[in-house]
Amino acid sequence: MARSAEEAGWFNELAAFLGPAYLRNAFTKGTEQEVEFLVGALGLEAGERVLDVGCGPGRHAVALARRGIEVVGVDLSEDFVALARDAAAAEEVPARFDVADVRDLAYDAEFDAVICLCQGGFGLLGGRDEPRAMERITVALRPGGRLALTAFSAAFATRFLEEGESFDPATGVLHERATVRNQDGAEQVFDLWTTCFTARELELLAERAGLDVDGVHGVAPGRYGTAPATLGDPELLLLGRRRC
Ligand SMILES: C[S@@+](CC[C@H](N)C(=O)[O-])C[C@H]1O[C@@H](n2cnc3c(N)ncnc32)[C@H](O)[C@@H]1O
Repeated sequence: MARSAEEAGWFNELAAFLGPAYLRNAFTKGTEQEVEFLVGALGLEAGERVLDVGCGPGRHAVALARRGIEVVGVDLSEDFVALARDAAAAEEVPARFDVADVRDLAYDAEFDAVICLCQGGFGLLGGRDEPRAMERITVALRPGGRLALTAFSAAFATRFLEEGESFDPATGVLHERATVRNQDGAEQVFDLWTTCFTARELELLAERAGLDVDGVHGVAPGRYGTAPATLGDPELLLLGRRRC
């Protein structure tokens, strides 16, 4: 499992292979529900500035920008940033995208809200750099600014561990080998290393980084809400705000 911690940029190769085929994944189909929920839960208004950390091809960023929100998306993958730029340009919406590592973010109190969704950089770090990532995300928020972050649930991952998957209790990293198909129909096998969390762990990480936590909820792609986390929820949604 050490490999995942040593190579937190492992997703880049997968992103380069997948390209726009990433958006064929079933877990990307709930974008509108997720964005509608986030606009309400974070109280987002037109003209506010939102940072999307690990934005991928920009599906949430572009949907928010359509609502008049000024979005900056950052991602480690040049390929995904290029797709996000194309998507924003095609719709002429106020979104900008940069290649950046969540661990090196240098924003200082510049955003009204930060979103980090579908692991979005936070859940692919290998179980080592998450405190630093949470701290960089928090500092990007203005005091009182709001955060929405989703991550894999360790309870769900271990309860429903599938054949061929393994879970490292020391790091919380779930490893699987997945056959991935790209836009041309070509297939390639990739190792996926997803860090999983308990609700309490996320809460403690957030508090340590300087956030007041409003709640950690049990969610699934396309089914964001504020219900308490259960053993049947694949993802956890952390809602919080930067301490004033
Ligand atoms: C599963 S995708 C989610 C993308 C997008 N948020 C979504 O909901 O579709 C995870 C994203 O995190 C990005 N990522 C991985 N490690 C990162 C890092 N250290 N810093 C920034 N982004 C990272 C990947 O390139 C990828 O685009």
